[in-house]
Amino acid sequence: MQKFKKIGILTSGGDAPGMNAAIRAVTRTALAHNVEVYGIYRGYSGLIGGDIKQFSIRDVSNIVNRGGTILYSDRCPEFKTEEGMRRAVDTCHRFGIDGIVAIGGDGTFRGAADLTKHGIPCVGLPGTIDNDITSTDNTIGFDTAMNTVVEMVDRLRDTCESHARCNVVEVMGRGAGDIALQAGIATGATAVVIPEFPLESNESIIKKIKDSKRLGKRNFIVIVSEGLGHDFGPALTEQIEHETGVETRFACLAHVVRGGSPTLRDRVLASIMGEFAVKELLEGRSDIVVCERNNQIVSTNIRYSLILDRMYKNKLKDGDLDDFSAEEIAEMKAFCEEKTRDMRKLYNTVDILGL
Ligand code: ADP
Ligand code: F6P
Repeated sequence: MQKFKKIGILTSGGDAPGMNAAIRAVTRTALAHNVEVYGIYRGYSGLIGGDIKQFSIRDVSNIVNRGGTILYSDRCPEFKTEEGMRRAVDTCHRFGIDGIVAIGGDGTFRGAADLTKHGIPCVGLPGTIDNDITSTDNTIGFDTAMNTVVEMVDRLRDTCESHARCNVVEVMGRGAGDIALQAGIATGATAVVIPEFPLESNESIIKKIKDSKRLGKRNFIVIVSEGLGHDFGPALTEQIEHETGVETRFACLAHVVRGGSPTLRDRVLASIMGEFAVKELLEGRSDIVVCERNNQIVSTNIRYSLILDRMYKNKLKDGDLDDFSAEEIAEMKAFCEEKTRDMRKLYNTVDILGL
């Protein structure tokens, strides 16, 4: 088994609250095992360019509570090229980095899988507000993002109640409606629209607003996920005002939801996942993503995780399942069905409680 002396850590893709707590956990766990730690700045761009600094225990002091990422993040198209990969591997050799913990979303994991193939063992940590990594119940940053939406929507509700208005609120999540759905329940939204269960028409929302107005309701919150496209919210806003007579405003929370101090749950998740990632690497396991399943921290192969995502999103391509056994495919299908069932239940809850 390879003896690890130096590991690198990077954050890549969209930042997420809790990334710093993960950086701290990785650093301190590695140092506790007498392994040197190298902070790689600006994700794969810093790996290509050698923007790297050796970390001591004190370099990660006072960051467990901080949003963003002290390592900064980047989208790095060059890393997808052979030349970019060659330069990244050269940097690892130059610094003597024998393994990397990469914190980010599915794009970051694709990069980590490539790097592992090129001889640098990598472990991925799911850091994204979107919660769109199907193999884990929760991603680092998701809980904070939901809580931020709740805080913002509670404020909008106050002013809607005073003025008898409706507010359509667009929240982030890329192709996933997880943030919108959970925040919708927590804020008592009249309706939630997510890409997983697209509406046949907007009429059901219009009807619900009219019905609940008749029942004496004054404030109406409709949460829409950005996955429906950025035109969807403003168009729905106009339609609601026109067809219900309720004055309606539109708010796009955008990157507000990606910043801020991480919640307790995100800090704890990031800390235990970070510790777990280093232990996996030191025990010789790589090309994996650390996941939380039923309150247990486990790891899963990166390709398995990426293909599971495609299966869940009905985006499988020819040949995607060729490398997997019948048992693995059955397990993946069960996993997707369970997640769809859970989302459907939450969706129905909004419907029943939002009157
Ligand atoms: P996220 O990790 O949040 O999904 P991105 O999709 O932007 O964010 O991916 C982050 C970075 O990961 C990209 O800028 C690129 O450097 C790297 N990456 C993404 N896809 C691949 C790929 N197919 N092969 C190698 N690297 C990739
Ligand atoms: O993946 C995180 C995320 O914030 C998504 O919710 C959103 O679609 C995207 O990143 C925004 O990316 P950018 O930082 O490039 O605006």
